[in-house]
Amino acid sequence: MSRVLVAYATKLSSTRDVAEAIGEELRAAGHEVDVRLVGEVRQIDYDAVILGSALYAATWLSEANRFVARHVAALQALPVWLFSSGPLDSRLAASNPPITRHAAEATAPIGARGHHTFGGRLAPDAPLSPQVMATHAIGDFRNWAAMRAWARSIAAELAELNRPGQ
Ligand SMILES: Cc1cc2nc3c(=O)[nH]c(=O)nc-3n(C[C@H](O)[C@H](O)[C@H](O)COP(=O)(O)O)c2cc1C
Repeated sequence: MSRVLVAYATKLSSTRDVAEAIGEELRAAGHEVDVRLVGEVRQIDYDAVILGSALYAATWLSEANRFVARHVAALQALPVWLFSSGPLDSRLAASNPPITRHAAEATAPIGARGHHTFGGRLAPDAPLSPQVMATHAIGDFRNWAAMRAWARSIAAELAELNRPGQ
């Protein structure tokens, strides 16, 4: 059993649900999991970290980048996995696009073990300008099965890391 932190950055809350779904699956695999907004994490007192952010203009939210900068030493010493939530297109999301250049640069010092891109959500009543709403796909493109499968693959890697003699 590992103590796992799932830390996330969100602007319009949909990434919180992604983080919660990942956390639930790791809990089901027997781990002790905290799901926290990046800004609420004071100390990285965990065995493993999953860090994710919503994507805006191909960039992680600034609070996620600040989290990396603040905790880089602790993160370098732990197994870390990253996720981005963004694409407002099911097919694109299903292709698991690579981490964006900006996000890759911001997270490079961590040496993370993996990254996954999940589909996002733009609610019809999102508090954004009419121009933004007219130029982005409205809908929920989050694939819960894909998130849970990814979380299970992390649980399997953690089990391997926790095997005696590893
Ligand atoms: C102005 C704007 C810009 C966006 N830019 C991107 C982008 O560059 N790449 C992407 O995959 N998704 C992009 N999205 C989609 C968001 O990442 C998606 O809605 C996500 O689920 C938002 O997460 P949040 O609700 O946690 O803030 C954008 C959405 C908006 C409204």
